[in-house]
Amino acid sequence: MAGQRVAVIGASGYGGLQTLRLLQDHPHLSVSFLGGERSTGKRWSELVPFLPLADDLVVRAPDPDAIAAAADLAVLSLPNGLAATLVPDLLQRGVKVVDLSADYRYRSLARWQEVYAAEARQVTRQDGELCQEAVYGLVEVAEARIREARLVAAPGCFPTASLLALLPFLEQGLIETGGIVIDAKTGTSGGGRAAKENLLLAEAAEAVAPYGVVGHRHTSEIEQLAAQAAGQPIQLQFTPHLMPMVRGLLATVYGRLRDPGLTAEDCTTLLKASYRHSPSVQVLPVGVYPSTKWVRNTNRCLLSVQVDLRTGQLIVMSAIDNLLKGQAGQGVQCLNLLSGLEAGTGLPLLPFYP
Ligand SMILES: NC(=O)c1ccc[n+]([C@@H]2O[C@H](COP(=O)([O-])OP(=O)(O)OC[C@H]3O[C@@H](n4cnc5c(N)ncnc54)[C@H](OP(=O)(O)O)[C@@H]3O)[C@@H](O)[C@H]2O)c1
Repeated sequence: MAGQRVAVIGASGYGGLQTLRLLQDHPHLSVSFLGGERSTGKRWSELVPFLPLADDLVVRAPDPDAIAAAADLAVLSLPNGLAATLVPDLLQRGVKVVDLSADYRYRSLARWQEVYAAEARQVTRQDGELCQEAVYGLVEVAEARIREARLVAAPGCFPTASLLALLPFLEQGLIETGGIVIDAKTGTSGGGRAAKENLLLAEAAEAVAPYGVVGHRHTSEIEQLAAQAAGQPIQLQFTPHLMPMVRGLLATVYGRLRDPGLTAEDCTTLLKASYRHSPSVQVLPVGVYPSTKWVRNTNRCLLSVQVDLRTGQLIVMSAIDNLLKGQAGQGVQCLNLLSGLEAGTGLPLLPFYP
């Protein structure tokens, strides 16, 4: 199905801006509604003069009737807790939704409440059935289910990079389910466009610092998918770091190999086979390690595997652009699938370098 109209709610934020930029070049999807809060009432050309849209729309409050009148699909790029106030009404009106927040990433509403209640603006939710129905939008592992969905929960940026590295090894039972460690780094755009003290240039420049050590909210999201792949509960260690760069995310994943005879070449062959039908994932040759600059402004994940034969450790490195494969690019992949298109339609895979 082609010629679908898309509403972008949270248009002025980082996820909204990337979505709009990607849809500018899209052959079959067009932007028909812009939604926001503080930017409501502003004409797009006044708000974002550097990214002109064919129809110079005015940003509007995200009223479900107005969205349904204008659009077939909606991308919600909102702070956690807000999508849940819109999604039931949008689905009821026949609008399919890709949500970039965490509101529908957990199968259990109670689990979402445990992890997000403190931060979310809206915690009184009764849409547990929609949490069960939503499809987790990691395109490379759930393409067929996303095609049939009404509601897609796009994964978080850290989970995207970590799970693409980890899932093939868990599915094949090649690593121990205990003792998995993920050490990850992200640029400051991971925190969104709204002002935050730790993201000021004076705070984040020329510095590297861990945050959310033990109990970061993405830990439970990664564990949920890792457990599904392994067929048993998994607890793992995840530590993010803030890097003095605007965009980009690198996750280094450590796991203990069950067969100490497996080499980096064996593991690379397995990864290549797992992603042979996924142009968004490229597996590098052994000894070539990915840089965030190699995926900047692209919807690609670069993976590389190494094995330390002394310690029996598997090391998988995974680089993405947090705002594209980690957020809006993955969202557009999901829009494509909901529209009956190839997942990668209209999405960039090669960077301008440097
Ligand atoms: N940044 C990343 O790397 C990343 C990666 C993956 C997932 N995510 C998730 O994606 C979502 C969006 O993140 P972001 O970084 O793009 O955030 P952001 O830059 O802070 O943008 C948030 C947007 O939400 C809008 N908004 C806020 N309250 C609203 C309300 N009550 N009604 C309507 N619109 C409202 C804002 O519009 P106004 O300006 O008009 O107020 C703004 O456009 C978050 O849930 C985030 O966790 C982010």
